[in-house]
Amino acid sequence: MVITAKQEALVVSSWNEMKDDAPTFALKFFLRLFEIIPSAAKRFSFLRDSSLPLDKNPKLKAHAMGVFVMTCEAATQLRKTGRVNVGANTSVQHLASVHFKAGVADVHFEVLKFALLETIKEAVPYMWSEELKEAWSESYDHLVVAIKNEM
Ligand code: HEM
Repeated sequence: MVITAKQEALVVSSWNEMKDDAPTFALKFFLRLFEIIPSAAKRFSFLRDSSLPLDKNPKLKAHAMGVFVMTCEAATQLRKTGRVNVGANTSVQHLASVHFKAGVADVHFEVLKFALLETIKEAVPYMWSEELKEAWSESYDHLVVAIKNEM
């Protein structure tokens, strides 16, 4: 198994602690990505065309929340089936095509991972450990590899 039952339990239990404020945390890790790589915001059509401040943009929040939820769900899928399944409404091929066309690069995925882990550490400091970090990292890495393999 690519993810152990213990790793899945760590991801799910920390998600349960964060879920009430998950949209805020999700937005936070995207804003962190844009602090580190400001040009990453230009990849999003709805940010290029908008005069709203980044932290008030509902589409950005929705994308960020999608990444957070899909990373969490990947832990359970990986433990159950050894594979990532992105859900009924989309496919890995579609996500790969959207990200490829938008010019999303390896460095964006890498920095987003750093920002995600940093945000989780700040959100649940009392749960934070190397094991928790590894568990979220594994989920995220498998999800991103699945997308990048089709890009
Ligand atoms: C679009 C998921 C990482 C930029 C999307 C969509 C989903 C998604 C579900 C909507 C696809 C559709 O239109 O049907 C994910 C997941 C990620 C990830 C699961 C990582 C695990 C990133 C990163 C960037 C990014 C690192 C970097 C900037 C974009 C852009 C779009 C998009 C630009 C198209 C938005 C638009 O202009 O309409 N993503 N994403 N994504 N994503 Fe991501």
